[in-house]
Amino acid sequence: LDNGLARTPPMGWLAWQRFRCNTDCISDPDHCISEKLFMTMADRLVSDGYAAAGYKLISLDDCWLAKTRDKKGRLQPDHDRFPSGIKALADYIHAKGLRFGIYEDYGNYTCAGYPGILGHLETDAKTFAEWDVDYVKLDGCYAYPSQMDAGYPEFGYLLNKTGRQMIYSCSWPYYQLATSLQPDYKTIAKVCNLWRNFDDIDDSWESVQKIIDYYGDNQDELIPNAGPGHWNDPDMLIIGNFGLSYEQSRSQMAIWAILAAPLLMSVDLRTIRPEYRDILLNKYVIQVNQDPLGNQGRRVYKESGIEIWMKPVTPVINGKYSYAVAFLNRRTDGTPSEVSVGLKELGLNHEKGYKVLELFDKKDLGVKDPVDRVKVDVNPTGVVLLKFIALKHSVKRFGN
Ligand code: DGJ
Repeated sequence: LDNGLARTPPMGWLAWQRFRCNTDCISDPDHCISEKLFMTMADRLVSDGYAAAGYKLISLDDCWLAKTRDKKGRLQPDHDRFPSGIKALADYIHAKGLRFGIYEDYGNYTCAGYPGILGHLETDAKTFAEWDVDYVKLDGCYAYPSQMDAGYPEFGYLLNKTGRQMIYSCSWPYYQLATSLQPDYKTIAKVCNLWRNFDDIDDSWESVQKIIDYYGDNQDELIPNAGPGHWNDPDMLIIGNFGLSYEQSRSQMAIWAILAAPLLMSVDLRTIRPEYRDILLNKYVIQVNQDPLGNQGRRVYKESGIEIWMKPVTPVINGKYSYAVAFLNRRTDGTPSEVSVGLKELGLNHEKGYKVLELFDKKDLGVKDPVDRVKVDVNPTGVVLLKFIALKHSVKRFGN
């Protein structure tokens, strides 16, 4: 969507994967979906360095609404859990220099059974604008996927008509694919800033791998639709929760960076361990994700559990791209796997050569020419993420 927003993939925090539909503020006050939770996470985004690293969005997901609309037919939050109201929450978040996201559903109900927008599109778009919403995630439960080709654009039009700039996150293609309809991605990319294609992420490596496979297997169809203002969304980052090991967390971060995926953390920022926080805050990896060219990378090799993923990034020197290259090891048979590949085989043929950096452990691997090889040891279920920076001038090396 060419509305000037999301020129790089959106970054922030989204409630769903970690906090789901926990509405029990009596016995679980610290984890239930309530204004307190979102205010606390906003505080943490700022105090713990996430906002400075680019994670600026705090977004509601399902289960913030009251079971019914108000007397005038407008949406209203559950007043016990959001006693100050949504506008006040948005104000709190804005005062911290952050952006505020909301969740709704195109159908009659949200997936968890709260009121959907169907029949109230114009009222709800206006309500969001009045509340100073910056980001709208529009789910697609309790709706006919065949009607989404009209419905999502209509709501997008109404959001735009309010005059308030809002990022528009759509679940439209996901619900169509789930019912064997072919999404019209050209239109989707014109209407939405980001969209979900595949299943919800769960807190497991298995779930992350399924998503990685989906984006690899369908890359020829998906890559052309991604770019500044319009992104494929493989769902939230689960790094720092319970299901991923340290290596697996690096793998999710690396592949999401290569995919130019929105980086939407869904984790309890009060209890995340420092080493997981460091993965989320790694500025070199974030830079790959946020590269201004906005290219979605692709899987270029997959064999015996080893995959290589590449994303063309800046700087571009005389028409030659720099690249982020992820070596992913899906094997679990014990020892780290050695992967050795010639630059030329990867298509890295820039004659002036590349400066090579390893991004997680921050190692400088020196200068490599197209005739050279790189060799990496990749831990089981882990990743090595390299950046090949195209050089302006060739570097004279001893032995050349
Ligand atoms: C389905 C979506 O895909 C999830 O991300 C989440 O928003 C749930 N619905 C909420 O019910």
